[in-house]
Amino acid sequence: MWRVAIVTISDKGSKGERKDESGPLLAQLAKEIRGDIVSTLIIPDDFNQIEESLISLADHSKCDLILTTGGTGLAERDITPEATKTVIEREVPGIPEAMRMVAFPRTNFSILSRAVAGIRGKTLIINFPGSTKAVKECFSIIKPILPHSLDLLRGKTKH
Ligand code: MTE
Repeated sequence: MWRVAIVTISDKGSKGERKDESGPLLAQLAKEIRGDIVSTLIIPDDFNQIEESLISLADHSKCDLILTTGGTGLAERDITPEATKTVIEREVPGIPEAMRMVAFPRTNFSILSRAVAGIRGKTLIINFPGSTKAVKECFSIIKPILPHSLDLLRGKTKH
């Protein structure tokens, strides 16, 4: 089982003004790759809170995988990618590139997500857009590569 954390990044969600559906959906999808959900957070679009949460989940909770949802677009408060970039040590650009590229023919708006993915220590961090539709589409695109990615990070292969 992989230790997985889900972080919903939404001003309205964190204040209880909007029901978080994307976080629970991501948790459900993560279980399909043998994810053990060790933490679920809902935090506002606040740079420091995003940064601190990701660092704590990676360094102290020793998560294998952190999936964030929300705050990846073009609006003024969308700063999830910037906060994530300060936390990761090595970027894995192919993951968000595939999310945008594969979804694009059906959903042109996919390229409006500035999501990033990368590694901090042995933890893989992946940004997802905020809507349940986008979460569903993006997860299905990268699902096949997740187990092998996590194996590599844990040194479980000969590569
Ligand atoms: N990606 C997929 N696959 N499907 C979608 O419907 N929505 C887009 C994009 N990525 C979408 C998607 C839209 S409309 C926006 S604004 C951006 O994700 C950013 O969303 P966020 O700010 O909620 O993270």
